Amino acid sequence: MKTRAKLNGLHTADCINFMQSMPAECVDLTVTSPPYDSLRDYKGYNFNFEAIADGLLRVTAKGGVVVWVVGDRINGGRSLTSFRQGLHFQKIGFNMHDLMIYRKKNTPFMRSNAYTNCHEFMFVLSKGSPKTFNPIKQATVRNGFEMVVHNKGPDGVNRKNLKELKKEKTRTNIWSYAVGLGGTTSDRVAFQHPAVFPEKLAEDHIRSWTNPGDLVFDPMCGSGTTCKMAMLNDREYLGVDISGEYIDIARQRLRKFKNGENYLQNAIEYLRERDTLNMTE
Ligand SMILES: C[S@@+](CC[C@H](N)C(=O)[O-])C[C@H]1O[C@@H](n2cnc3c(N)ncnc32)[C@H](O)[C@@H]1O
Repeated sequence: MKTRAKLNGLHTADCINFMQSMPAECVDLTVTSPPYDSLRDYKGYNFNFEAIADGLLRVTAKGGVVVWVVGDRINGGRSLTSFRQGLHFQKIGFNMHDLMIYRKKNTPFMRSNAYTNCHEFMFVLSKGSPKTFNPIKQATVRNGFEMVVHNKGPDGVNRKNLKELKKEKTRTNIWSYAVGLGGTTSDRVAFQHPAVFPEKLAEDHIRSWTNPGDLVFDPMCGSGTTCKMAMLNDREYLGVDISGEYIDIARQRLRKFKNGENYLQNAIEYLRERDTLNMTE
């Protein structure tokens, strides 16, 4: 735990070098999104995917998880950078525990000869079998006591039993979020970064794959979304970005929650505001 406390915080650095300075197997969960296919201008950086993948394998704890949120450039067809990266992670020793979908509820982008793309992939990569899984539940449409079909024999007759249907079930692996101001986040300053992912997406993974006190890492943290949600959920956080300007934005986003006496009030206001936004289905 001592080593972890030292690692806690936000740092301007190339994550490849930074990960080399970290102890092996110290991270419980990484939630991150890489720059892909030069779709955005991130103020100049060096993106070496293979080196980042190796670094992540080294710093991830046994049973730890990496959530890699990635899409493809679409120009005529899909680049399939996402799939190539997924296969590479598997080749170096990660287990592709799940291939989840991040669906954007409101997407303005249209293609004239294909359906509007409204999703990115969320590769859930684990080192061995995940050591923590706290499944998020959702309410079932039908619940309570019902006569339920249990056996249809050769005579074709439906036999029914009285059964209690559950009130909730584990969510599917397609998660939907509103994007933009109020959906992605209500922190205006975050949008000075060109590619913020939704706070709720980060939070849902943090709650699923870690417990309070665990270390959550984002090696390309941009505006600090993963770190903010880790902090609000009582996890240790560690964020790195190659751009000092983005780390500045991340610091601004986290500062209002960190300042002692206002912490509780700010956190309550934040949760109230968020719950009225209906960010997931
Ligand atoms: C898709 S953005 C991440 C956005 C973030 N998830 C958020 O919600 O704000 C990718 C980030 O990777 C950073 N980056 C690119 N190469 C990097 C490297 N070698 N080391 C650290 N950060 C890097 C970029 O500066 C950019 O902020």
